[in-house]
Amino acid sequence: MVIMNRNTSPISPIKKEYMDEVYNRTVFQDYPDVELGQLKDIYAKDNNLNVDEIELASGADEWIQKTFITLGQKGIMTITPDFFMYKEYAEQLQLPFYEVESEADYSFDFDKIVKAIYKKKPSLFILSNPHNPTGLMFKEDELQAIADAMEAMHGYFVIDEAYIEFGKEYARPDGEHVLIIRTLSKIYGLAGLRIGIIIAKGETYDKVTRINHPYPLDHVGMNLASVFLEDKAWVKEYANYQIEARDMLVDAFKQVNQVMSVNDSYTNFVFTYGDRALSLGRYLEENGFSGRFYEEDNLKETVRYSIIKHEDYPRLNELIEEWLKNQTIKK
Ligand SMILES: Cc1ncc(COP(=O)(O)O)c(C=O)c1O
Repeated sequence: MVIMNRNTSPISPIKKEYMDEVYNRTVFQDYPDVELGQLKDIYAKDNNLNVDEIELASGADEWIQKTFITLGQKGIMTITPDFFMYKEYAEQLQLPFYEVESEADYSFDFDKIVKAIYKKKPSLFILSNPHNPTGLMFKEDELQAIADAMEAMHGYFVIDEAYIEFGKEYARPDGEHVLIIRTLSKIYGLAGLRIGIIIAKGETYDKVTRINHPYPLDHVGMNLASVFLEDKAWVKEYANYQIEARDMLVDAFKQVNQVMSVNDSYTNFVFTYGDRALSLGRYLEENGFSGRFYEEDNLKETVRYSIIKHEDYPRLNELIEEWLKNQTIKK
């Protein structure tokens, strides 16, 4: 089965020779003191960030949880659909949780969102940009409207940029009330090492990092990540491989855009919806390509597919063509 339901990279970034280097440099019997600083320095430099404004923990997931714990006491608001873990963490922490629903075409009405913020007064608003599951990016003025409303509520706006390297640069809302979450799990292909990044300023940085563990990540994982990130030519080639895979993915599914909606993608997956989306999803699954199906009512007629190895696209394209031949064209 070719897995298309996980939003991870289809190939590993870690070369065998990194293992020897990491084995030699890791002092297994000691607590990892210097590695955290080294990895932060590399990441900050590569991404033009101030190293004093970033911190690492176990995946973007841990930062979602930590921002909720430290800044979300009066409630969490998000949009739906979005990354399902927002709801999980809010429930786990027994925090009030508010969702603003998308329109039928999975777009969002930002006036409605801003009104909901003023009505419910949550202390934290979170969304993913680029957005999971639609794969799209929000407009700068839309994000700014949320940031302004949250600032007026003396709350915080967390932008989960797990997929940003697949997207495009944008002018982020600025200020101490805005936090950004990133990860090494997506474009860097290191989901197994569990390394997530928070970017925050001033007092907000202090608040969100107040509950840090003294040694949040392990020696080996941090050393492997550092060795990989320092292999600049390979990082670039590896990222390009995935971006090409994403473009091939979108091209493959655009073949069916006369019979269902197929979004553009600023992520490592493509989102399809409409009354025939499930039919295609099932056909592909029966033939060895498993997309992501949803139980939730608002996602019943949608399927999301993530990138696969380049060599798997010819077969995927063939299957999509075969399925399409049996469809009468109407949208
Ligand atoms: C929007 C979004 N945020 C966060 C994550 C989790 O990232 P991590 O592996 O760094 O915990 C995912 C994973 O699929 C995601 O889709």
